[in-house]
Amino acid sequence: MDLERLLSDRLAPAFAAVAGEPVDPLVRRSPRADFQSDAALALARRLGRPPRDIAAAVLKHAVLDDVCTSAEVSGPGFLNLTVADRALADMVSGLAGDSRLGVPSTAAPQTVVVDYSAPNVAKEMHVGHLRGTVIGDAAVRLLDWLGHQVVRVNHLGDWGTPFGMLIEHLADVGEAGAAHELSMGDLDTFYRAARAKFDADEAFRERSRLRVVALQGGDERTLRLWRLLVAQSERYFLTVYDLLDVTLSRDDFRGESAYNDLLAGVVDDLERLGLLVPSGGADCVFPAGFSGRDGEPLPLIVRKSDGGYGYPATDLAALRQRAGELGATRLLYVVGLPQRQHFAMVFAVARAAGWLCPPARAEHLGFGSILGADGRMLRSRAGESVKLVGLLEEAVTRATDLARSRNPELDDETAAEIGRAVGIGAIKYADLSTDRTKDYVLDWERMLSLDGNTAPYLQYAYARVRSVFRRAGTAARLDTPIVFAQPVERALAVELLGFAGVIGEVEQSLEFHQLAGYLHRLATAFNTFYERCPVLRAPDELRESRLLLAELTARTLRQGLHLLGIRTLERM
Ligand code: ARG
Repeated sequence: MDLERLLSDRLAPAFAAVAGEPVDPLVRRSPRADFQSDAALALARRLGRPPRDIAAAVLKHAVLDDVCTSAEVSGPGFLNLTVADRALADMVSGLAGDSRLGVPSTAAPQTVVVDYSAPNVAKEMHVGHLRGTVIGDAAVRLLDWLGHQVVRVNHLGDWGTPFGMLIEHLADVGEAGAAHELSMGDLDTFYRAARAKFDADEAFRERSRLRVVALQGGDERTLRLWRLLVAQSERYFLTVYDLLDVTLSRDDFRGESAYNDLLAGVVDDLERLGLLVPSGGADCVFPAGFSGRDGEPLPLIVRKSDGGYGYPATDLAALRQRAGELGATRLLYVVGLPQRQHFAMVFAVARAAGWLCPPARAEHLGFGSILGADGRMLRSRAGESVKLVGLLEEAVTRATDLARSRNPELDDETAAEIGRAVGIGAIKYADLSTDRTKDYVLDWERMLSLDGNTAPYLQYAYARVRSVFRRAGTAARLDTPIVFAQPVERALAVELLGFAGVIGEVEQSLEFHQLAGYLHRLATAFNTFYERCPVLRAPDELRESRLLLAELTARTLRQGLHLLGIRTLERM
C-alpha cells in the first residue's frame, strides 16, 4: 500500500458524503505538509459553495486519526495532511518483508503486445532507433513485472520494393562477400552500393524490378538470397541489442513479411464491410475525421495501383492478428512521432472494421528526436545520420575513461564493467528521464555527470549503500522497528513509500520520466539522510533502523533502475 492511496481511500468516502457523488480526492505531495488534497476547489465550483467550507466539511467526515497527526484546511481550500510517525514507520516495516517493495502484481492481467525497435533489413540502426528500443524495452520490463502477459514484437522492415535492388546487388557481390560485409555490421555500405547502382544503371534497375516480381512470386533462389540478407541483418541487430542490454531476442523478430499471407484477408474484410474505395487505381479506406491541408478526406492506401501492398496494409494485418489471434487487449506501438498520423489512421480503420473493439485499445507511444549540441537533428560530421553502435561505443569509452580517472587503481576488467554499466545506463537514462514526446539534446557531460538527474548519480547512490553494508559486515535486519530521530529519516521513509504509486501511474501512462524523477528524488533523499545521520556509529536501535532504511533504498533503486533497463554496480 502506498501512502497516497491510503490517504485517498480515507478521504474518498468523506468527499462522497459531502458531494453526494464519487469524487477523486486528488492527493499529492505537498510543499507545506506531507500531502495535500486539492479536490475541494473543483467541487466548490460544481456545488456553488466556498471551497474552504467544503474542505472543512470533508474533514468532519474523514477518519484520519490513526494515520495523520494533523489535517487542516489551508489557503483557498486545500487539505494539508501530515502523516503520523507511527503510521509511517509501520508502513516502512511492511516494505521490509515484501520482495515487491509494496508494488502488487496486477489484479487484471492483460495480454499486451509491444511493437518496438523495428529496424530495417540491410540498413544500419541509427540514433533514431535508440529511443524506440529503449522506451519499448522499459515498457516490456515494467508490464512484465506487474504480471501482464507481454508479447515483444520486433516489426522488422524486411519486405518491399527496395529488396529487388538489395538482392540483385547481393547476387553481384556474391554470397560469401556479401555475408562478410553484412556481418561486419557494415550495412550502410552495402545499402549505399546497391542504391548507387540502382540510380546510375538502367539495366540494374530493370533486373531489380524483375527481382521484386520473383520475390513476390516466391522464386526459390530469390527467397534464399532474401533470407540471407534478413538473417545477416538480424544477427547484426542482436549484437546491438546485446551491447544496449535490451531484452529483445531472436524469437521476437516478426518482420513485415510475416503478414504477407494475411493481407488478402484484410482486403476481403474491408471490401465486405464496404470500407474499400477505389481511388486513382488504388484501393483505399477513408477513415472519418482525417483530412488533408485543403480539407479533402485522406486515404489510407491498402492496395497500391500496381496491386502491391505497402506499409499501411501490413500494419492493418498485424493489428488484426494481434487483437484477434493473440487476444491482446493493449496494443502498444513505440514509434517516432512523425508516424503519428499513420497510426491514428490505422487505428481508426481497425475500429471501423471491428478488429479493435473495447476493452482492447491501441496506443501509439510516440517520441521526439535526439538533437546535437546545435539543437538540430543529431548528425555525423559528414552530415549523415549517426550509427547507433558508434554512439554506444563512445558512451562506454567515455564512461570507462571517467572511471579510470576517478580511480587510477582500477584493474582493466572492473573498469570495463563499470564503463559499460555507466555508459549504457547514462544513454538510456538520458532518454527515459526526458518527457517522451519532447526532443532532447545529447550532452555527454551532463548525462555522465555524477550530479543531477543522471544514471551515474543513481548508480552511485546505490553503490554507496552497498559500501555501507560492506563496512558493516552484516545485512540489514528486516524485522527491525523503524525509528525517526531526525526529519531526514522521516523524509526518506515518505519517499520509499511512494514507489508503488509511481509504478501504478507509469503502468498507465508509460511515461518513464515519472519513474526516473521518482528515483532521483529517492536518491537525493538518501544522500541527504546519509550526510546528516551517522549509520554505523549510531547507537544500536538507531543503527539497525538506519541500516534498514538504507537497505530499502538500495532495493528500490535497483528495482527501479532494472525496470528502466539500467544496471547497478556493487562499487563504482
Ligand atoms: N521499420 C519502421 C521504421 O524504421 C518502423 C516500424 C514500426 N512499427 C510498425 N508496426 N509500423 O520506420
